[in-house]
Amino acid sequence: MNLWISNIRGLVLAEEKPRKWAAGKEMQELPVMRNAWVKISNGRIDDFGLMENFPENPQGQVIRAEGRFVFPSFCDSHTHLVYAGSREIEYIDKIRGLSYEEIARRGGGILNSALKLHLTSEEDLLQQAASRLDEIIHFGTGAVEIKSGYGLTVEDELKMLRVIRKLKEISPLTIVSTFLGAHAVPMEYKGRQPEYVDLIIREMIPKVAAEKLADFIDVFCDRGFFTVEETARMLEAGAKYGLKPKIHANEMDNSGGIQIGVKYGALSVDHLEYTGDEEIRCLKGTQTMPTILPGAAFFLNMDRAPARKMIEAGLPVAFASDFNPGSSPSGNMQLVLSMACINYRLLPEEAIHATTLNTAYAMGLSHEAGSIARGKRANLFITKPIPTVEFMPYSFGSNKVETVILKGKVY
Ligand code: NIG
Ligand code: FE
Repeated sequence: MNLWISNIRGLVLAEEKPRKWAAGKEMQELPVMRNAWVKISNGRIDDFGLMENFPENPQGQVIRAEGRFVFPSFCDSHTHLVYAGSREIEYIDKIRGLSYEEIARRGGGILNSALKLHLTSEEDLLQQAASRLDEIIHFGTGAVEIKSGYGLTVEDELKMLRVIRKLKEISPLTIVSTFLGAHAVPMEYKGRQPEYVDLIIREMIPKVAAEKLADFIDVFCDRGFFTVEETARMLEAGAKYGLKPKIHANEMDNSGGIQIGVKYGALSVDHLEYTGDEEIRCLKGTQTMPTILPGAAFFLNMDRAPARKMIEAGLPVAFASDFNPGSSPSGNMQLVLSMACINYRLLPEEAIHATTLNTAYAMGLSHEAGSIARGKRANLFITKPIPTVEFMPYSFGSNKVETVILKGKVY
């Protein structure tokens, strides 16, 4: 059956010719069709146009959207939302003045989540993650990337990835998965980091690939975590199985993470608080999407990645949530949108590109998601009555999403 949305105040990111991303100045030019309709059939966007061309007798269900905007769903290209429990104790430590790295050195941080995950059944993990998915759906997310990396043993990494695979099967969201065995060095390997890297290369990657559990490979390449040389070895091992990299880079230091990501053809390099002219030069003309995670910078009170400088240099920029229990316990992409504007000085049009079209690219979904284009999956939302597109980031903290449509169905 067809589903029509009619009388739309503004159809955001309606693309006649789908673009792979928006970069530089182009990020300001947001296509918005005024007084429009969109037709959905078989879970896909079939057509759209102006109300003056709306058919007299549309076949199927019609939702009228007077005073409302229709957006393509947010694409959240960086999350760790499969995790067990929460870590508000560390949050208190942070308020008292400990740094993220100090907490990690004491066995807190990622290792704390790894222990909790080890003690949690697959079924329980699935339930916890499913309820987080339900929450982000109502904030307007339609596609999400989820990483492993709280397992840190062969068995537990596989367990996490199997939970993600199950979520792919049962969730209306479009989900992609990333293997992040190199998220931290587990306690048992303290002082023997190269042996843990060997374990990842010799056992984890082949097993993950054999079960087809991951679409991408990630490494936390930064000061205090994995070195550039170790990252290179692991990315090479992943490449043998066709795993494209997405890298955690330059969160703690000018660590060379951006350069190594670019060298190995990473789809994205993420975090980027420590990005200088050299890194920007290195990203120019490549296929790697610089991705900023404002939730983590906000939550950890970090310096901000130089988003404006990147855009002014002609780069595309993406913004994602980093939803995780340690540095960004929120997957609310409307908040990410507001933070992109308020904290990084993106214009609303730039921020909307950064959380939809550009994040779709950063998770390998350009052909499926990120804009309203014919043939793309019908993942979109209708807002509450709002006056302008700019109202979306402006009215921070409240949920402006009224109706969610995923895979062509009202959710
Ligand atoms: O993206 N930076 C590395 N990893 C995560 C945090 C994970 C955690 O603290 O549990 C991040 O911020
Ligand atoms: Fe992360």
